Amino acid sequence: MSVSHRGPFPASRPRRLRSKAFARALVSENRLSPADLIYPVFVLEGSGECEAVPSMPGVERLSIDLLIAKAREAQGLGIPAFALFPVVGQNQKSLDAAAAYAPDGLVQRAIAELKSAVPELGVITDIALDPYTTHGQDGIIDEAGYVINDVTTDTLVRQALSHAEAGADVVAPSDMMDGRIGAIRDTLEREGHINTMILAYAAKYASSYYGPFRDAVGSSENIKGGDKKTYQMDPANSDEAVHECALDIAEGADMIMIKPGMPYLDVVRRIKETLQVPTFAYQVSGEYAMHQAAFANGWLERDAVTLESLLAFKRAGADGVLTYFALDAARLLQG
Ligand code: PBG
Repeated sequence: MSVSHRGPFPASRPRRLRSKAFARALVSENRLSPADLIYPVFVLEGSGECEAVPSMPGVERLSIDLLIAKAREAQGLGIPAFALFPVVGQNQKSLDAAAAYAPDGLVQRAIAELKSAVPELGVITDIALDPYTTHGQDGIIDEAGYVINDVTTDTLVRQALSHAEAGADVVAPSDMMDGRIGAIRDTLEREGHINTMILAYAAKYASSYYGPFRDAVGSSENIKGGDKKTYQMDPANSDEAVHECALDIAEGADMIMIKPGMPYLDVVRRIKETLQVPTFAYQVSGEYAMHQAAFANGWLERDAVTLESLLAFKRAGADGVLTYFALDAARLLQG
């Protein structure tokens, strides 16, 4: 169709490159692939156990046997790695979080079984004490409830070493204690785990988007309206994120994580441009829950919005995304 029109003509027609599918494909700048995705999973004791998480529709807590089936499925879809989060009973929680580094603990067994059943799938473990403390804070507290940095770090080092010994490929400290990356790296080196990678949650904000996760791991009751503002970062800050990431890299982190994700894409972009290191972002539980709520109401189109939300991370400069949508997205990308 050509409709004649006598000027004035636009000096530039950006729509020209959008006018045909082949041209749109040629000039497309970013692409999402299953290889960009990390799948977070919640592991429970028992066998054949599968519990829904009400605030996270589609997410289930699974016992190790069922987790292995999921791992096979994820690997078949081209997802490179799992991030493992434990759901432990109240009887495993204490003030000193000693269950965090038990050699035969739930996470340690899950790592070993995953690595033996699906060896090619990367296993990333969370280093933080919140699943194991009676108060739900990520560390060990004093009488005033303040998380004591260096005492907590000693426990995190034991937790990380126990994960490395169980066969974890990547340990991911998400606790925000000062100096913990250096301390963990030092111990891993000394104990011969020279190729165990560290993915540092270097810029982790004191966000209100973590609520559904705390339901999933059963720490919301314990934390009872408390917050983590004395160690997680102020959402108002971004210079501080650069500083935190630079410190963690200098201390021996191989990769860094920005968390939450979508509300913090400016931070992802800034870190990637400033530091040029492998940078990941975590589309957290609250982001997932918002999407699911809108999908369930028919307010947003599930498949298209899922993929658009993840592509945004790539455009911002992330090398990959940790997302509860990983399996769904990988299926869509393959199909
Ligand atoms: C705890 C941890 C949290 C998340 C991952 N690891 C919660 C918190 O800091 O309270 C949140 C992830 C999510 O919301 O999906 N170390």
